[in-house]
Amino acid sequence: MADQRARTVAPVRGKLGVLCVGLGAVASTFIAGVENIRRGKARPIGSLTQMGTIRLGKRTEGRAPLIKDFVPLADLKDLVFGAWDPIPDDCYTACLRAGVLDRHEHVEPIAEFLKSIKPMPAAFDQNYVKRLEGTNVKRGKGKRDLAEQLRADIRDFKTRSRCDRLVIVWCASTEIFITPGPTHWTLEAFEKAMDANDPSIAPSMLYAWAALMENVPFANGAPNLTCDFPALEQLAKTRGVAIGGKDFKTGQTMVKTVLSPMFKARMLGVAGWYSTNILGNRDGEVLDDPESFKTKEESKLGVLEYILQPQLYPELYGGMYHKVRINYYPPRGDNKEGWDNIDIFGWLGYPMQIKVDFLCRDSILAAPLVLDLALFFDLAQRAGLAGIQEWLSFYFKSPQTAPGLYPEHDLFIQHTKLKNTLRWLMGEEQITHLGIEYYHEA
Ligand SMILES: NC(=O)c1ccc[n+]([C@@H]2O[C@H](COP(=O)([O-])OP(=O)(O)OC[C@H]3O[C@@H](n4cnc5c(N)ncnc54)[C@H](O)[C@@H]3O)[C@@H](O)[C@H]2O)c1
Repeated sequence: MADQRARTVAPVRGKLGVLCVGLGAVASTFIAGVENIRRGKARPIGSLTQMGTIRLGKRTEGRAPLIKDFVPLADLKDLVFGAWDPIPDDCYTACLRAGVLDRHEHVEPIAEFLKSIKPMPAAFDQNYVKRLEGTNVKRGKGKRDLAEQLRADIRDFKTRSRCDRLVIVWCASTEIFITPGPTHWTLEAFEKAMDANDPSIAPSMLYAWAALMENVPFANGAPNLTCDFPALEQLAKTRGVAIGGKDFKTGQTMVKTVLSPMFKARMLGVAGWYSTNILGNRDGEVLDDPESFKTKEESKLGVLEYILQPQLYPELYGGMYHKVRINYYPPRGDNKEGWDNIDIFGWLGYPMQIKVDFLCRDSILAAPLVLDLALFFDLAQRAGLAGIQEWLSFYFKSPQTAPGLYPEHDLFIQHTKLKNTLRWLMGEEQITHLGIEYYHEA
């Protein structure tokens, strides 16, 4: 304990507004879930901020408070929700349409609350999400104008809902694949391109820019480029705002980032890894478009290369064949099935196989991540941590990092990094797992 080394974290005061871009399956499951939890009707399972503990000091000290008692996080009762969506459904209708939660147990009892959350008109352009049509869309003179309208929405929401602070989480559809180019290098070039309605400026970038200009932290739950480029990273730094992404790490990729470190730790080879998914929700339909799928594919493919490091272990991973498929299959709705076939090899090169069949629920896995990200981004902002929040890469498939740094994908390294950051914030010792002191003292 050396509290004098703790960073200054502004206290949690008043309400925290959580604005979701997109009010589809994930966002509605998150909002309805929080309300059920607040009413004592369900437990926040899957949320590290609500259920996780953190060890402090030596193993012999027996100090392991809940994370939410250790760091000053907004209380669930102080959360207020808002959203944008090109589809005009309120949160009640969005929940029913998504079909994730049991209507009688978790939707009808809070119907009035859910109906009160109506999406604001979206900055939406079908060129970036081909398989979606919406009527609740902003009209404007151009991209700059739309972005200014988003800024006005943010300010109005804050006043209307009497919030002390805001945080924005992108829970909207995956946009088409965009490679960063000259319009993304500097803020000047970016704003110029916005003025010129350049196609390299996607709607998600307008939300991110608006958030930064209003000093609101922004977390990106989809694989779109959004704020993962120098112009907006610089803007986040200069304005002192927390940003991060990309793509919630929930199902198959979470499993991948647990199994692949195991192979590497034991120096087992991987000849091939075939991953396929069937899912039937709107996300699945959007990802059925090859351009949106390309964005998702890039995000899902990267993890193995980084974790297994074929350049360091060419014999073990140099020839690995990695394939990821997503198949839209309506009968399953939000209940995704993710199959993995992994061909590994061991001692003297003998082959073995591992099969994983994860019958998961996409939005049930994602909702607690939205909650944790909202609370941790708000914490980061109050702690003065500006720019990319790499310590929250635990939550992302494709973590945003400082230029020149490769992302850390191993789930348990990410978990350790997150907890050590919380210890560092509060002036507690880092836990290195060295442990030699227990034996020397003995
Ligand atoms: N486990 C998971 O569910 C998971 C994991 C990782 C990433 N994601 C990503 O999270 C996002 C949301 O997933 P979902 O299942 O809720 O999808 P969804 O299709 O149910 O909801 C997305 C919503 O975003 C809206 N939208 C699209 N473009 C918009 C814009 N420009 N502005 C505002 N709203 C817009 C759509 O109308 C839709 O209602 C997707 O991009 C998905 O790839 C989900």
